[in-house]
Parts: sequence; structure tokens; C-alpha cells
Amino acid sequence: MEIIIFVGIIISLYTSYFYFRYFTRPNPLPGPFPLPFIGTLFQIGLNPRKWAEKNLNESIDIWEYYIGPFRVVTICNAKYLDKIYLSYKESKNLSRESKFFKRNIAAYDEIGILKGLIFNNVFHKWKRSRQFVTKVLMSKIYHYGFINNVQKIFKEFEENWDENKEVTLDFSTWVSCYKTQITIGTIFGQQLYNLPSFKIISKASSEHMALLAFLVFVPKCVSSIIMLLGFNTMKKKSVFLNGTVHNIIQKRRKEIENGSPTNFNLLDLLLTSNLLNESENIKGEESLNDEEVENNLAEITSTSIETTSSALCFLIYNVAKNSSVIEKIRAEILKVFGSDTNAIITYETLESCRYIEAVAKETLRFANPVPYNLRILDGKESVGEFNWPSGTWFWIDHHRIMNDPNHFNEPKKFNPDRFLNEEYEGAGEFNKIRKNGYVPFGGGLRICPGRNIVLIELKLLTVLFFRKYNINLVNENESIKYVYRGINQVYNLKIRLSEK
Ligand code: HEM
Repeated sequence: MEIIIFVGIIISLYTSYFYFRYFTRPNPLPGPFPLPFIGTLFQIGLNPRKWAEKNLNESIDIWEYYIGPFRVVTICNAKYLDKIYLSYKESKNLSRESKFFKRNIAAYDEIGILKGLIFNNVFHKWKRSRQFVTKVLMSKIYHYGFINNVQKIFKEFEENWDENKEVTLDFSTWVSCYKTQITIGTIFGQQLYNLPSFKIISKASSEHMALLAFLVFVPKCVSSIIMLLGFNTMKKKSVFLNGTVHNIIQKRRKEIENGSPTNFNLLDLLLTSNLLNESENIKGEESLNDEEVENNLAEITSTSIETTSSALCFLIYNVAKNSSVIEKIRAEILKVFGSDTNAIITYETLESCRYIEAVAKETLRFANPVPYNLRILDGKESVGEFNWPSGTWFWIDHHRIMNDPNHFNEPKKFNPDRFLNEEYEGAGEFNKIRKNGYVPFGGGLRICPGRNIVLIELKLLTVLFFRKYNINLVNENESIKYVYRGINQVYNLKIRLSEK
């Protein structure tokens, strides 16, 4: 009985404190009314925009919701991003000046993501992982190898298709299988590492992304209850693959210690981080331990598979619906590659595909697979006309920002021409877009390190598909189906593929 009274008093005190803070908060904004402990979880669920679309006037460009005790300010206008996405061009001392370096999670770090890259809030540790990831993903050697790998793997798939005149396939399933093969080959360096089937890995990646979304949104008090019901087994089932990734790391570490030459891939670079020369290494940093290597690899693998697969689905869907876009793509392919539908595609030829690049960019504006970003304020700062206390969470709605009618003509229209200059018969609209008005990859210190490789891959697959195949949607009048689980994951996208 005494325990019940004690718990009752604690809950009442917490509730009073919660509402005292709520009613005295600075800059009250529109948003759902929060409850203690769970915040606005019931109203918002895992997708804030759905609530906003139903309940808020379109002109509202800043609003708020709660994840447990944390107030989350949602930003829907580029004008608020100047400080959040402060870039190296604008500040020579960005690492010190940026107060928006951090991201957070609301729940327990059950799977150790704080030790990876995406959610790492310890600056020097983040920087250490980031330098290896950037070194691989942004380098030309990687891009050249990547382009060759994609063509090789695409050919293997083509061999199956060529046997039939017309193939009907679920593109969303095909693309994650294709993307898993590419990722394992280019991130781990070898495909022969005793991995489970590609289907298992792609499923695990999708669950890993969902788990990240869950950890961000679900407050500690709720996740602890779920943990009691078996949540702590999720790590094993996620992209860590029941210890397979751990075994790969240990095996490769032993091989390198026994003198095996290293290759230019993320696994080898992370494992030999301590062998970098003085100028490349961060002073005083130890090499990464197996757990850190594992977390970095798991994150890059799942992010790479999930984001690009969805982007490719959105691209195929939107292009297949626009015959004039297909015509322009084919005209460019003919101009750049000639009529040989098996011609080798190189980095340089891909670079000259201006229209196809515009298609890729418009896809990421029109239907970005990563519709939101999260940053936490560290120290007091003003954002727009408001002053905010340290610890405020900012939820940046990239989708709304990139569909703002004040910055884009007819934003609800899929129109790659907006990304072309007048000299390429485009509208030149892109040059007039406000700073931070086009942010598919975020911005500033933590901008996506995969941005170059994403554009390369979207362009490459566009050429590979449209130079040789007719692509029709099986359900032409249906909207594309997707669900938000950390990213917009597309499912059940049926296409008919036939040789031209
Ligand atoms: C269409 C594809 C993609 C989109 C739209 C996308 C978008 C984003 C966004 C919005 C962020 C947050 C950036 C910020 O805080 O400013 C991000 C971060 C990140 N992305 Fe991507 N991304 C994509 C593909 C990839 C790929 C292919 C990889 C890896 C191979 C990757 C790796 C990462 C990593 C590691 C981070 C965290 C960076 C950090 O916190 O320092 N992304 N991405």
C-alpha cells in the first residue's frame, strides 16, 4: 500500500513539473497537446507530417510535438535553416561554431548506435568514423570501382531477363536484392564472406532502419516495457545478423594481422585506422575497436541499401508515368552512348548526362526517401525570429521545404527541367532557389557522405534500364505505396519489363 502511495506521489509530482514546464515554455507553437511520459506519441505515432497535414493550416511553417519529455520543434521552411545547416563555406571554424552538431534518441541505446556515426554525439569519435566513411564514399577510386561493379551485377540479372520476352517483377523487392549485392561488394570488399543470403541481409537492413526510427521516437518509459517483452533480442536480429558481421570483422582482422594486403573498402580502412600516417590520423585517437567497426558497418550497410533502393523505386515510378521524360532520357542516352545498348558506361560519360542528372535530382526533391532530419541544439541560439534554450530538438521536414510553392514553380509536378540551365533547354529555376531550399542530403557538418554515390547510382541505373528496356507500371493508376520507417520504404511496385 505504501509503495502505491509513494508511486502515486512521484507520478503527481512529475506530472505537475511536466505541465509547469509545458505552460511556461518559450515560444509556444501550434501542435498536439502532450501527455506526461509519452508526449504526443498517440497523436503523432512515427510520422509527424501525417498529423500536420490533417490538423494544421498549410501556411504554418513551424510547429511542435513531444517525444516523451522532449519538445520537438518541426521546421518546414528553409528560412529557419541558416544556422542549423551552417556549412564549411560559411564558417572556417564550423566544428566549434556549429551548435547543431548533435542528434539524439529518446529510448535506451539498446543496439549501440551511439557508437556508430549517424547518432554519435561525441565530436572526436564522430570525426574519426566520419573521416573513414568520407574517404571511401567521396573518393574517385571508389566511384570508378562502383560503376564497374554495378554494371557487372546488372548484367547477371539481365541474363535471367533476356530469356523471357516480357518480365513482370516487383521492382521494390528486386532493387533491395540488387542493392544488397552492390553494398556488400563495395563496403565489405568481397562477396565471399560466408554471408547469409542477400534476401536475409536486405530484410535485416530494413528492420535496422525501422529500429532507428523506433529508438528516436519511442520514449524510454515505453521502450523499457517493450524491452521486458523481448526488445533486447532485436540487436541480434537486425543488420548485425546474429553475430555474422562480428565474425567477419574478427576474421578479416586476423587476416590483416597475418600479412594479407588491404584493399580500398570501408571494412579494411576501419580495421587499419591505427595504421594511417600522422597527417591523416586524428591526434591522440586510438584505432576503432570491433564494436565500433561493427556499428559503423551496420549503419552504412543498412542506410546504403534502404535509402538508395527507395530512391530508385521513386525514380522508376515517376519516370514511367511521364512519357515526355522518357523521350528526353532516351535522346540523351543516344547522344552520349550511341545506339549500342551494351556499351560500357564510364564515370566520364555519366558526368555528361545533364538531363539524367536532372531526373535524379528532381526525384530526390519530389519524393525524397529521407523526408526528415533531426538535430539538437547545444547551447542557446536563435533560429529565425525565435530564441531557443539548449537541448531543444529540431525536426527538419525536408519534404515540405523542397515542395514549398514560394521556392518551386508547381512543386507537385515532376519536372526535371527545373534542374537544367537555359543552355540545356531548362528553366534555370534551380539557380533561383533559396539557400537550403533544396536539401535532400541535409546540410552543414553532418551532410550525407553518401550524396555523390547516390547521384552516380541513380544516373547509372537510369541509363542501364532505359537504353534497353520498356518499363510499364502494372497498376498504372495506382499511387506508389510506401511506409515511413526512418525512411520512406517503398513496397509492392510491380513493373513490366520488355526489351525495346
Ligand atoms: C537517396 C539516398 C540518400 C538520402 C536522401 C540521404 C539523406 C541523408 C540525410 C538527410 C542525412 C542527414 C544529414 C544531416 O544531418 O545534415 C544523411 C546522413 C547520412 N547518410 Fe545519407 N542519404 C542517402 C544515401 C546514403 C548512402 C548511400 C549512404 C552510405 C553509403 C549514406 C550514409 C549516411 C551517413 C553515414 C549519414 C550520417 C552522417 C553524419 O551524421 O555525420 N546515405 N543522409
